[in-house]
Amino acid sequence: MDDDEYQRMVDAGERHWWYRSTRALLEQLVVPHLPEVDASTVYLDAGGGSGATGSWLPDRATTVLDDFEAVALHAAERDHTGYRPVRADLNHPPHPDAAFDAVLCVTALYHKLNPDPQRVVDEFARVTKRGGLVCLMEPGGKRLWRAHDEVTHAARRFSLADMRSMVRVAGLELVRATGAYSFLVPPAAVMGVIERGKAKSDVGRNEGGLGGLLGQTARLERALLRKVDLPFGLSVIAIGRKPM
Ligand SMILES: C[S@@+](CC[C@H](N)C(=O)[O-])C[C@H]1O[C@@H](n2cnc3c(N)ncnc32)[C@H](O)[C@@H]1O
Repeated sequence: MDDDEYQRMVDAGERHWWYRSTRALLEQLVVPHLPEVDASTVYLDAGGGSGATGSWLPDRATTVLDDFEAVALHAAERDHTGYRPVRADLNHPPHPDAAFDAVLCVTALYHKLNPDPQRVVDEFARVTKRGGLVCLMEPGGKRLWRAHDEVTHAARRFSLADMRSMVRVAGLELVRATGAYSFLVPPAAVMGVIERGKAKSDVGRNEGGLGGLLGQTARLERALLRKVDLPFGLSVIAIGRKPM
């Protein structure tokens, strides 16, 4: 990612409606399935950046944050107690087998620097303890390629079937797979057409979410996700458990 884009992402992390909503969404989806916290609990926020979507993890227990962006590691450590930043490549995580009670990876597998996302998810499964969780969230909708994907050096977007498959092939039991931000699919499709050929980022754009409307809609969608999984979304999420 360009340094400027990265700094914009760090700056936006706490304020932007999408990051605030995503922290709440992931906490809602993941916490009910997490093993009980005790003195030995440790989580991994893989490709965790500045902690903008994973900072609810270090609020629960010590959390290692792997990333190769120095700007991000510095910001995560400065802004959130409980993070232990490690400069690391997700393709070769420097962690022993069964080191973590849960691994969270949010919008990292899509990146050009990860030529084989399945291999990265296999590594997440390796470093997870038996009974522990792996939660993946990535850009969804293969046909929703937009200018934002160009700026963020994306190599791919994922279908829900891709997400389910990566979890299962890594030897994890599928706990949940769902779309999220389904209400953003129509506007994203329109933006994709309008912005074709341009390089334009979503980060820093519309931080308030149309005067709170998008945050409210995300809240309604979270209420729905308490009961059902959604078949599509601008993001796709899969949660797997390592068998005992
Ligand atoms: C779009 S940011 C998302 C950051 C954070 N997960 C969030 O949701 O705010 C993607 C992050 O993944 C990191 N990343 C992607 N591939 C990586 C790899 N192979 N090794 C280490 N970090 C990686 C990037 O440096 C970046 O910080």
